[in-house]
Order: sequence, then structure tokens, then C-alpha cells
Amino acid sequence: MNDQPELTLATEPWRIGVLFSTTGATANIERAQLNATLLAIDEINAAGGVLGREIRPVVYDAASDPKQSRALAEQMIGADGVKLVFGCYMSSVRKAVLPVIDSFRGLLFYPTFYEGFEYSAQAIYTGATLNQNAFQLAKYLLARHGQRFLFIGSNYIYPYETNRIMSDFVVQSRGKVVEELYIPLTAGADDLSHVVKRIRKFSPDAIFSTIVGQATAPFYEAYADAGFSPSTMPIASLTTSEADVAEMREGVAEGHISAATFFSTLGTPAARKFTSSYRLRFGADAPIPSAAEAAYFQIYLAAAALERAGSDDPRRVLAEIMEIEFDAPQGRVRVDADNHHTYLWPRVARLDAKGAFQIVWNPGVRVKPDPYCVSQSLDDWSADFVEPSLSSGR
Ligand code: ACM
Repeated sequence: MNDQPELTLATEPWRIGVLFSTTGATANIERAQLNATLLAIDEINAAGGVLGREIRPVVYDAASDPKQSRALAEQMIGADGVKLVFGCYMSSVRKAVLPVIDSFRGLLFYPTFYEGFEYSAQAIYTGATLNQNAFQLAKYLLARHGQRFLFIGSNYIYPYETNRIMSDFVVQSRGKVVEELYIPLTAGADDLSHVVKRIRKFSPDAIFSTIVGQATAPFYEAYADAGFSPSTMPIASLTTSEADVAEMREGVAEGHISAATFFSTLGTPAARKFTSSYRLRFGADAPIPSAAEAAYFQIYLAAAALERAGSDDPRRVLAEIMEIEFDAPQGRVRVDADNHHTYLWPRVARLDAKGAFQIVWNPGVRVKPDPYCVSQSLDDWSADFVEPSLSSGR
């Protein structure tokens, strides 16, 4: 029998909006973001909530659809009366939701790596912007794999904009983009066979993929079926994550490369604590992508800001959040008051035979966000200084 008195959080809960897709083209990764969000909320509530008040999520399914997401954001902020919204994966969805958040003077916490070139006074961006993942990936590929790239992406804003900046990096290093292709989010066998033909025709040194969601695993399988080899022509990606690899046929992922600010193989105490709590709750084999890690730590950042503000008034939460440093699973993070993006820890990893990401390059620095790519040089990442003991190694 447990004779500990049960913790009761007597006063009104803090109600927050949680908007991820559990259906549609990007449900796979967004389910992990939702799980990580709920995990953080439960941990905080189990430890007494915020100022003795429980955090209570109001959760809707965005269905991987911008229009639906916009309507749900209106419902949350307008009818349900929440002020803080946590969510969105695809940039097309964020772009549909942000005007609603702006017009109600709410606050969106967006936990997904994205293309940058955006600022909203009503948003906090906790995923990587391009100087925190694409810079490092480009530098690694140009040093290790050659200079001829084929770009393949899903047909929407994130891949277009990311490829625009990646092209600049490649050309700056006297490399060449030999082909740039886009396929629908719901690409089928015909789309993929066209892509395979183009890869065969150009035979690049590496493929840079910004395919997102359900077409990812079939693309890697089509590549393997075509007889291409990652040792001579790897697929390098910012979007292919643990959640995608879990969908691939065995053996297909090995040798391909990704850059992200978190990989679930990181061995630091904070990373292990997060991955073991996540897997205890969601299954021993549950994939944990970097977008889920950001979804997790942004709840802790927001809770700390709520505690300092004593209010969920977005203006007060915003003022406080800039003062906070948090030991996230990836390393110590903080929001940059200049641009509302987050200082993060880039890494490059290669998939092993078991489909696990093994770090091949860990620059070991926390990088200041530069969402407008003001520093265009591959050698200038505006690295930030943090106490060495806090820097996250592997
Ligand atoms: C994305 O659309 N930001 C992955």
C-alpha cells in the first residue's frame, strides 16, 4: 500500500493548446511530437504542476492539413480560450496557423526544424533553422562526398526554401546542383520511379532529400531497389528521422546521413533520461525524432516562464522566457531575444546496420540561431559559449 498522500492540484489548471497531426501525411512524426509534449506535461504535473496548478492540454488533430489547422487554432484560441499553443510540423501548417495566433495575440511554440526567413512577435521557434542543421550537413557532405548534388523534396515551401539556401552553400564551395525535383506529399510508385530515373541519369555524389512524411520510407526503398549504394551516393537529409527509419524495410537505411540537433542515440545523462522515460511510456522500440525532443523541451521552457510570470498572458510569458536556460536532452538551450529562435546543438549522423543514427560529426558547440542567414559563410555559425561541463557530447 502506498501511504504517500495523493498530490492534489486544487486550483484552476493552466489550459494550453496542443496541435499536432495524428492523421495524414506527417502523422508518423507528429505522433512522436504529441507523445513528447504529453510526457513533459505529465512529468511537470507529477512534480506539482506550475505554482501548484496542473497543466491541462486541449488537444486537436491537425490532420496534416493547413486549412484544418487554421480552423482548429481559431477554435483553441477563440472558443476554448487558450493563450499558448504548442504544435505544427509542416511549414505550410505553421504559415496557416500563425495569422490566427497573431490576430488573437496568442503565442505559438513551434518545435520543428524549418527554413527560416520568418519572425513573429507571437511565436517561439524551438526547432533548428538552417544555420543549425543545413550549414553543418553541407559542410560535411562537401568535405566527404564530393560536389555534385541532386536535390529531391516534397512539393511545398519548406523544401523550396531549404533548397534555395542549400544551393547557395554548394555553389559557394564551387559545387553544383545537377537536378532539383519535387514530388507530392502523397507520392506514389510513378513519382518515385521518375526520381530513380533522374538519379540514374545524373549519378550525383550525394542526394539531398527534403522529402517529408509518408513518402520518405518508400523513397529510400525505391533507391535500394534500384541498386544504388550509399557508400558512393548517400541520401543526406534534414527531414529523415528515427520515425521514418522505423517505417523502412530492414537494411534499407544503412549508410544514409542526416543532420539534426538531437538523435535518440545520444548518450548524455539528459538524453538518456528523456529517451528512457519516453520508451517506458510509449514502447521499447518507439522512435524518437529530433522534432519530438524539441516538443518536449519547449514545454519545460514554457512552464518555467509561466512560473516566473505567474500568468499565461503571452506578453509576460515572452518576457520571462528570454531569461531562462534549460538543460534539454540535446544540451543547454535558450531562446534568443533578438529573433525568438533557440540556441541549439547541431550534429551529423550516419545510419548503421540496425537503423540507428551514429554521430559522425559533433561540432560540440551551441549555435546561435540565424534565421535570415545573415552569416552566409559555411565557416561562420555564430557559435555560442556555454560552460564546458554543460556542453553535450555524444
Ligand atoms: C517543415 O516543414 N518545417 C519540416
